[in-house]
Amino acid sequence: MDPFGRSIDYLRISVTDRCNERCLYCMPEGYKGWAKRAEHLGVDEIVRVVESATRLGFRKFRLTGGEPLVRSDIVEITRRIWDLPGVQTLGLSTNGLLLAGLAVPLRRAGLRSVNISLDTLDPAAYRRLTGGNLEGALAGIEAALDAGFEVVKLNCVLLRGINEEQIVPLARFGAERGMPVRFIELMPLAPGGPVNDGHFFPVAEARARLAADEALDPVSERPGHGPARYLRGRVSGALVGFIGSVTCADFCKDCNKLRLTADGKLRPCLGRHGEIDLASALRADGGAGIDEAIREAIANKPENHSFGGDFEVKRPMTAIGG
Ligand code: 5AD
Ligand code: SF4
Repeated sequence: MDPFGRSIDYLRISVTDRCNERCLYCMPEGYKGWAKRAEHLGVDEIVRVVESATRLGFRKFRLTGGEPLVRSDIVEITRRIWDLPGVQTLGLSTNGLLLAGLAVPLRRAGLRSVNISLDTLDPAAYRRLTGGNLEGALAGIEAALDAGFEVVKLNCVLLRGINEEQIVPLARFGAERGMPVRFIELMPLAPGGPVNDGHFFPVAEARARLAADEALDPVSERPGHGPARYLRGRVSGALVGFIGSVTCADFCKDCNKLRLTADGKLRPCLGRHGEIDLASALRADGGAGIDEAIREAIANKPENHSFGGDFEVKRPMTAIGG
């Protein structure tokens, strides 16, 4: 339990801060703050952290980045984590570009669920927004669907004037393939870039756009363990989720997670700056202090983020972990 009565059992592990895309809301243009490769946690170090975490009651784990699939040992990381007792579920968040070749090996290694970023179905807009190739992402999505994961979800960051016309098409795209689509509010994590507060688009408005297209019914099911609230399209069957990280007043009340950055810092909250240096604990005195660092991070979980207040970005999303 953290100081606010929340049980913390979910660890998101960023395995690299590198990415083969450069989404405008995630990575400031010309970003140079990359961690040195040697600062990235190695497989054995990641495994030791997960062992510690399971001892302390963590059950859910997710691999993120940057782009986790650019790590050449991602299948080994997956297998080693899945083999640990106490790991109940293991997911991965990706832009999908490298998934066509990796979906089957990752599934075999034990991966249960995959979240894939897809902000638009328009190839030119996809290129502008991410620097990547839509065809590649779509091939990754199809490969994930074929590989038999328990859950494959899509993530769309809402951007006024950029992809708001894509809300209904994306929901339909998901419905046709039986994939939940989650609409996510833009968090101010790539300052000074071309995507800014003027592009903010609240989840309530996304919901209204969808409701104008077809009636939406509340659902009790919750694919995954994240903070989304879900509705189902009465006609299309679309399962649509809303992550109102900025506008929903009670967003943080069920928060169940800690983040581990690629350079080994435990981050109790995405929207607060505090970090605990786990890498030093790992690399000093045989790693005796890992449990202590995790306990400290839980004890330091703030009640809520400060995106609406005086939040000032020090590390962009790609450095913290999506
Ligand atoms: N605001 C909201 N979501 C973001 N993501 C990356 N940067 C931001 C941001 N500034 C999302 C990605 C991905 C997930 C891991 O985090 O789109 O789906
Ligand atoms: Fe890469 Fe994901 Fe950041 Fe886009 S959101 S630049 S895909 S890490």
